[in-house]
Amino acid sequence: MCGIVGYIGKQQAAEIILNGLEKLEYRGYDSAGLAVFDGEKINISKSVGRLKALEELTHGGETMPGNIGIGHTRWATHGEPSETNAHPHLNSKGTIAVVHNGIIENYIKLRNKLTKKGYEFKSETDTEVIPQLIDYYYKGDPLEAISKVIHRVEGSYSLGIIFEDHPGEIFAARKSSPLIVGKNDSGSFIGSDVPALLKYTRKVYYIGEEEIVRLTPDEINFYDADGEEIEKQITEIKWDANAAEKGGYDHFMLKEIFEEPKTVRDTLNPRIRDGRVMIEELNMTDEEIRDLRKIVIVACGSAYHVGVSARYVLEGMARIPVEVDVASEFRYRNPILSKDELVIVISQSGETADTLEALRLAHSSGCKVLAIVNVVGSSIAREADSVMYTWAGPEISVATTKAYSAQLIAAYLIAIKFAYARDMISSAEMKEYIEDLKKLPDQIDLLLGGKERMQRFANRYVAARDVFYIGRGIDYAIALEGSLKLKEISYIHSEAYAAGELKHGTISLIEDGTLVVSVATQKDLYQKEISNMVEVKTRGAFVMAVTNEGNSEIEKAADYVVYIPETNKYFANSLAIIPLQLFGYYISVGRGLDVDHPRNLAKSVTVE
Ligand code: F6R
Repeated sequence: MCGIVGYIGKQQAAEIILNGLEKLEYRGYDSAGLAVFDGEKINISKSVGRLKALEELTHGGETMPGNIGIGHTRWATHGEPSETNAHPHLNSKGTIAVVHNGIIENYIKLRNKLTKKGYEFKSETDTEVIPQLIDYYYKGDPLEAISKVIHRVEGSYSLGIIFEDHPGEIFAARKSSPLIVGKNDSGSFIGSDVPALLKYTRKVYYIGEEEIVRLTPDEINFYDADGEEIEKQITEIKWDANAAEKGGYDHFMLKEIFEEPKTVRDTLNPRIRDGRVMIEELNMTDEEIRDLRKIVIVACGSAYHVGVSARYVLEGMARIPVEVDVASEFRYRNPILSKDELVIVISQSGETADTLEALRLAHSSGCKVLAIVNVVGSSIAREADSVMYTWAGPEISVATTKAYSAQLIAAYLIAIKFAYARDMISSAEMKEYIEDLKKLPDQIDLLLGGKERMQRFANRYVAARDVFYIGRGIDYAIALEGSLKLKEISYIHSEAYAAGELKHGTISLIEDGTLVVSVATQKDLYQKEISNMVEVKTRGAFVMAVTNEGNSEIEKAADYVVYIPETNKYFANSLAIIPLQLFGYYISVGRGLDVDHPRNLAKSVTVE
């Protein structure tokens, strides 16, 4: 939610900031703004809509000369997308500019107090209290004022701040919202995420909770909330600089779907040694694994769907009870947790506010937390007891694809490791599972080869009104994700149902021509799924089935069939999801939509 970038150095700031914001547009894209100090005063430019509008307004930054600046791309929380509500926000005198990502929860109280003291507010945002409050405390020392503000505000923030009377410095601070800083020979940078800085530097610092940063062109200093200087470790980013570029694809989403074989390999290979699954980062002995009473998986959106799939795999393979919950529900339902349970949180960004709070709740109940995370150094990665990274690289498209696939692999590896440690599988069985896992990248490649066929099929359904996805067992988990992929980027209404549940109400929505996507990869449930397909077909549905090669008799019940290569039943999700991701993608393209930036969404959901 919202991206921030800042630069101070020898070069023109606006161009660098616009370039960085472009890489952060996945975080929010309903308005954008820049504040640049021109040597005398702070100038502001803002525009509503995609970043392109701001680029045009400022002629690529040329109309905003100056070597110090901050910028913002917004995903509105408080106040509609408008120029007034777009960041940067200023104090009443226009001498302090602030960009903010997060939510200031006590902003109404602060705003009322400041209004009584004569401060005038222009926007509906929570953010505007920050420059005004800084102004209130400011006696010439920015660090002192920011430190006081940090003690007063409640909620989450990452901030970029410039002061007209401190033209050689940018300040930044963070709590529960991501922020990194970095340096090269030309100057110093702040950014919400690595892609914003990747073109300029690979050496970054991750800012901790309630820490403050002071950046000059040559130096970066770090302080705790009380303004005491602290030391920080530099982190070298290993991502390929091309990772955040489209590389010839029309959209990031398609590029990322095509990166799935590599992502699966990169997540799998380092954890396979001598025919065994080795997850060193787990930090658990076999005895501790055996003593576990339950696993609780908590996540949001697609990552939650990975959890639903993982439940079937973990319970089936390792015979350990698994509970799965969406983080926004888990954190408020007063869950019953005990020390002999393992909580697994799953998150691509590592910054999802609800998942982070679920992690903290689990910690406060004494549970060990394992995080499956993609973004190195993210809040969830830093707060979990152990972290299993999914090596998917930067995922830019708002709709997740490759990170989802990598999360599935992480879950399978945990299941195999736990099953072996709990004597549920022999070492020969473990080897067989590993062999099947190793085949997945090539099998995914094979499915990607069918993209034209999927595009032709999708073109027939670009005008669909409702699409239902059904499945049983793991196929239900696949249906959940397939349905989300379609609806979030195509805006076609879609629902996923456990196939047996359809006749308890929803089947009344099936009418002539309604598309029903049936996932039927699980042998033991196959005949039952076919019965459900027949039920909807006899009520007029057009049935598309995704099933295993060889199941050709399904063609009697389905109107259109996509076959996936044979794999172990537990791993079918990794293959069946590929045609469904492609289907969602091509429907969105066919409808002429902005695939990578679906309306109302943002990639990193750092607010509740
Ligand atoms: C859907 C999607 C979202 C995310 C969810 C969790 O395509 O991307 O549903 O899966 O917002 O995000 P992370 O994984 O960053 O916690």
